[in-house]
Amino acid sequence: MRTDKEEYARPAQPPDTSSLAAVREAAADCTACHLYKRATQTVFGEGPKHARMMLVGEQPGDYEDVAGKPFVGPAGKIMDRALEDAGIDRSQVYVTNAVKHFKWEPRGKRRIHQKPNSREIAACRPWLEAELRIVRPNLVVAMGATAAQAIFGPGFRVTRERGKVLSSKLAPRVLATVHPSSLLRQPDEESREREYKNFIADLRAASRAAGEE
Ligand code: URA
Repeated sequence: MRTDKEEYARPAQPPDTSSLAAVREAAADCTACHLYKRATQTVFGEGPKHARMMLVGEQPGDYEDVAGKPFVGPAGKIMDRALEDAGIDRSQVYVTNAVKHFKWEPRGKRRIHQKPNSREIAACRPWLEAELRIVRPNLVVAMGATAAQAIFGPGFRVTRERGKVLSSKLAPRVLATVHPSSLLRQPDEESREREYKNFIADLRAASRAAGEE
């Protein structure tokens, strides 16, 4: 059996470079936590190097794990629609995740999403830090509790702080909002519509804040 020491033997060490491609390449070999063993590949961030806005999600899902790209599955589809409704061009935004390997458990033939824990989030944080250092966005949008807690720490509550521009050690301007997948889990049409509108309002506020120097 592997010991913890062996599992975490190679902490994430992004190269000290301004090349996103070089950091992406280094992240492809990351073994800083055990999640690399079950995942197909590292799903690194994507988007323009000098994007004004960076969107941070939780971790790649089933679709993203296969495609190697962030937010291309069902959560990505609803996020894309909301970005469009908020007047934001996704191709101008840098999109990434707090954790870059898909964490899942088998259930029959299905791969069931598991929430990453604080150790896994911490092990992956150097990659997010490198993306922030290179892209230097005007605004980071933390989508959901995992992204927000990766940026602000474990005490952060999205429900209390959503929609406000706040400052953290990792990034000077961060706005937290819900994760787009939470919109897919609403129990009825009325709450789905209400939550979708609230998400768009946060994205509009983010767009305004990202445009400010
Ligand atoms: N959920 C996330 O948090 N990130 C993705 O890339 C896809 C789904």
